[in-house]
Amino acid sequence: MGSKSTLLSGDLGKILLHESATANRFVDLFAGSGAVAHFIAQRTELPVLTVDLQEYARILSAAIIERTGSLVGDTVLEDWLATSNASAARADNPNPLTARIVNAERAQASSFSEGFVTRHYGGHYYSLVQARTLDALYAELPKSEPQRTVALAALIHTASACAAAPGHTAQPFQPTETLLPFIEQAWSRSVRDTARNVVERLAAAFATVRGEARVGDAQSTVPTLGEGDFVFCDPPYSSVQYSRFYHVLEGIGRGGWDEVSGNGRAPARASRKTSEFSMKSKAPAAMKNLLVGLRRRGCRVMITFPDADASNGLSGQDIIAMASEDWTVQPHYVNSIHSTLGGSNDGTPRGGRKKLKEAVIILAPRSTIVNVPLAVAGKPEQITPRTVATAAG
Ligand SMILES: C[S@@+](CC[C@H](N)C(=O)[O-])C[C@H]1O[C@@H](n2cnc3c(N)ncnc32)[C@H](O)[C@@H]1O
Repeated sequence: MGSKSTLLSGDLGKILLHESATANRFVDLFAGSGAVAHFIAQRTELPVLTVDLQEYARILSAAIIERTGSLVGDTVLEDWLATSNASAARADNPNPLTARIVNAERAQASSFSEGFVTRHYGGHYYSLVQARTLDALYAELPKSEPQRTVALAALIHTASACAAAPGHTAQPFQPTETLLPFIEQAWSRSVRDTARNVVERLAAAFATVRGEARVGDAQSTVPTLGEGDFVFCDPPYSSVQYSRFYHVLEGIGRGGWDEVSGNGRAPARASRKTSEFSMKSKAPAAMKNLLVGLRRRGCRVMITFPDADASNGLSGQDIIAMASEDWTVQPHYVNSIHSTLGGSNDGTPRGGRKKLKEAVIILAPRSTIVNVPLAVAGKPEQITPRTVATAAG
């Protein structure tokens, strides 16, 4: 999560601010962690609209862009963090952790009738203590807004930071000799302290102008956009669906799944969102359709994409070639680090990150010169070709 957050303090942030200067609104069509939307909402006077297929992503964006005041020292959030749960106070685990203890926690967690975090993920992604704390915090989420959204976003960030899993939540670490130390490390993180740190960070951040975070599909949002919109697109580059890697966070965002199963404790495939941008056979057409739609709406656009061939069959150069006919294309290149989402990693179980060049592609609608025959009713002989500039292409 948040692959763009580190780049925002460098060239990516500068380019974004420069390009936003003449816009009326900033739109992020693939918002993910909301890092880019948060950056723009706090540093400009533009309303920000975010879209993502996943509910957890909506919550992460909304926690900042839908709020225009600080929540530092807010008593509702303070009370929430103090939610009492006797069993949740203990953050230390039996040491050393063994496979027998992990399996016993799994068995115990699955017999709990209350609390979906414990039932779904206890003993797998989280120790029993962590899972029960996450459940207690979920059960006591504030009723009022904007505190509820901020608290839920903090819970999602906390669940991500404490998971005994390799940087995403497709599958938890299994209690093998090699991986037990990593489970122990993750299980020793305090849910309560992590949640407090996240709340402090989120509470201090807010938008200059109130924005809106939506769950939705990028393509079907395009017809609602217009000329004043500066549209940021950081689409998937992997041929594996994001919903497979972040199902635990989505589970927390939506209050649990009907059922989870398998080593990954994942919901049924049918209940996970799918994106054409993560299907090798469909991603090029999906990108082309997106570009055609955005061009019709007259938006200015910025796309970030790995410069090398990505596993969904696209590359930054492919996108530049697709856009060149209808747009003035201005590419920049920045150094980036991407999650391999389960692919080859850097030697640590928690990691799977790869350095690469990222293309930052700026597209401005080009006024194309076309010959349009102007018909005069009833006088076909008077049809005269006239040269006009068209913005819609
Ligand atoms: C590369 S990530 C974006 C990362 C984001 N810029 C950040 O810094 O966290 C791509 C995101 O697009 C979302 N997504 C995939 N297909 C989509 C679609 N058709 N419409 C909207 N969102 C989509 C995924 O759920 C994922 O969160």
